[in-house]
Amino acid sequence: MHFHKYEKIWLSFGIVSLIVFLSVVGVSAFSQNHTPSGGMDTIDPEKVNETAPFDNPGVTQLDEDTYQVAIVALAFGYNAPDLRVPAGKEIIFKVTSTDVVHSFTIDNTKVNMMVVPGRITTKSYTFEEPGKYLILCNEYCGTGHHMMSTEIEVY
Ligand code: CUA
Repeated sequence: MHFHKYEKIWLSFGIVSLIVFLSVVGVSAFSQNHTPSGGMDTIDPEKVNETAPFDNPGVTQLDEDTYQVAIVALAFGYNAPDLRVPAGKEIIFKVTSTDVVHSFTIDNTKVNMMVVPGRITTKSYTFEEPGKYLILCNEYCGTGHHMMSTEIEVY
């Protein structure tokens, strides 16, 4: 294949633009992980059950307007008893996995988090409407993947 001089210039320009574009996308994706609403902290996946807040999973009221919900995802379910939270308050979900990659997805909401062993995924969400919401896993995680779900009640 033969390139003319100008084609070479345009080809190099295209490649440079692509690299610049990918770096910008990469950098912004990285920095988004450090905003309060979508943080990622590390955790020892072997010690999840003895590490706060997962040593006491479920709902904890932090202050008048804020609740924290700690959830352990594992094949094939979510360890999170009594998932009941009020509407109109900030709910901070903290989720981790003790085995493989799962997701924590709340049906009909914008909550759709990837849950990775060794990491704590955090997402803040405020439910507007009371009701029962289905929580499900939409990362394929093994033979029981399709059965991996639970429910959260918003009152
Ligand atoms: Cu857990 Cu799919």
